Amino acid sequence: MPPDHPADAPFNTPFDIGETDRLLSTTRAVRRRLNLEQPVPPQVILDCIDLAEQAPTGGNQSSRRWLVIRDSDTKAALAELYREAGGNWISDAYQQVEGTGHHNEKALRSADHLARNLEHVPAIVLVTIHGEHDGSGRPGLFDSVVQAAWTFCLALRSRGLGSAWTTIHLGAADRVAELLGIPDGVSQIVLLPVAWTIGDDFSPAERRPANDITWFDHWGHTIERPTGEAPIHADGAGVTVEVDIDAPPSAVWPYISDIELPARFSDEFQGAEWISAEPAVGATFLGRNRNERMGDWEVTCHIVGYEHERVFAWNSVDPDQPAAQWRFELIPLAGATRLRFDMVLGPGPSGLTSLIDTMPDKEQKIITNRQLSQTANMRRCVEGIRDLVDSERGGNAGERETHQ
Ligand SMILES: Cc1cc2nc3c(=O)[nH]c(=O)nc-3n(C[C@H](O)[C@H](O)[C@H](O)COP(=O)(O)O)c2cc1C
Repeated sequence: MPPDHPADAPFNTPFDIGETDRLLSTTRAVRRRLNLEQPVPPQVILDCIDLAEQAPTGGNQSSRRWLVIRDSDTKAALAELYREAGGNWISDAYQQVEGTGHHNEKALRSADHLARNLEHVPAIVLVTIHGEHDGSGRPGLFDSVVQAAWTFCLALRSRGLGSAWTTIHLGAADRVAELLGIPDGVSQIVLLPVAWTIGDDFSPAERRPANDITWFDHWGHTIERPTGEAPIHADGAGVTVEVDIDAPPSAVWPYISDIELPARFSDEFQGAEWISAEPAVGATFLGRNRNERMGDWEVTCHIVGYEHERVFAWNSVDPDQPAAQWRFELIPLAGATRLRFDMVLGPGPSGLTSLIDTMPDKEQKIITNRQLSQTANMRRCVEGIRDLVDSERGGNAGERETHQ
C-alpha cells in the first residue's frame, strides 16, 4: 500500500504528495477498462512522449524511438502476431482456471481480454531503441528505455488514459519488425495499448510492504521500525533468507511444518517437541538451543501463524512480547515455490537484551552479529530443505532455474 505521508510528513513537499502518490500507486495494467470506442488524439500521445523523454538515458543520448500504430489493418496484423506469439496461450490458460479461484485467474481474465481485443484499441505504442543488447551484462540499452516507457504510462494515467505493459509480441519480434518496417539494429522493448479508461477509480494493488523486501546494509538484514541510522533492538531488526524450489508448495509444506527439521541444519537449534497436541495457532512447542556463549537453553514457542501450505510462524517465549519472531512462508511462483524464512528480534526481552544491558555501547554490534550468525543458520536451513525436496523429486541440485 502507498505510504500515508500527507497528514504526518515531517518535511515540506514540493508537490501535492497525496496526488503524486495516488498517481504512482494506482497506475495499473488496464485491459478490460480500455475504452475501445473513443479515439485518442495523437497530440495527447506526443505530450506523454515528451514527458517520457525526461527520463534518464545512458550517455545522455536520445536513442529511444516511439512507434504509434493507428491504422486498422496494421493493428489487426499486429494483434494476430501478439496472439500467435503467446496471446492464444494466455486465452487457453484462462479457460483452464476460469471459475476456479486460482490466484492468477483475475490477471489471466484481463490478459485474455486484451489478447482478443488488441486490434480494437485506438492506438498501440511500440517503444524501441537504437541498438542491440550485446549480452555483456553492462547497462545501457534496456536500462535506457524502461524508465521512459513507465513515465509514459504515468503521463497517460494522469490524463485519464490507460495502458498495460506487454512483451508477448517479442516472441514474434522479427515478424513485427517486418510488418512495421523496423530496421535491423533496433530493439523492441515494450508494446503499450493506449486508450481512454472507462472510469478512473483504480486502486493500489496488493504488494509486499517495503520493510519486507528491503535489506539494510547487508543482504537479508531487515528492519521493521527504523528509528535511526543503525539497527538497535527497538528497531525490530531481523533476517530474511529466500530460496526458489522447483516444486509446488504442497511438496515443501511437510518440511516447514516439521518443528524438528531446522535442527538438521542449524548450529544453534538442537531440536523441539510439541507441548500441546495440534499444530494450529495457539499451539506450543519446546525448542532446545545451544551455543558457545550461552550454553544450553530451552524456550517455549507459540504458533502465531498456521495456514496450510502457506505459512508456519511462531513467537518465542511470550506470544505477545516475543523474544524473537520466526516465520516460514511458501510463495507460489509459476511452476515453483519461493521458500522464505524470516526472523525478527524482539520486541520482548531475551538473552540478547540481557547482553545489551551489560554492554549498552555495543548494542549495534551485538545486533549486527546476531543478524549475521542467524543469516548463516537460516540460509543452511532453506537450502537444506530445497535439497531435500529436490532429491525426493529426483531433481538435480546443480541445474536451477531463476524465478522472478
Ligand atoms: C516484463 C513484463 C511483461 C509483461 N507482459 C505482458 C503481456 O505480454 N501481456 C499482458 O497482458 N500483460 C503483460 N504484463 C503485465 C502484467 O501481467 C501486469 O503487470 C500484472 O497483470 C499486474 O497488473 P497490475 O500492475 O495492474 O497490478 C507484463 C508485465 C511486465 C512487467
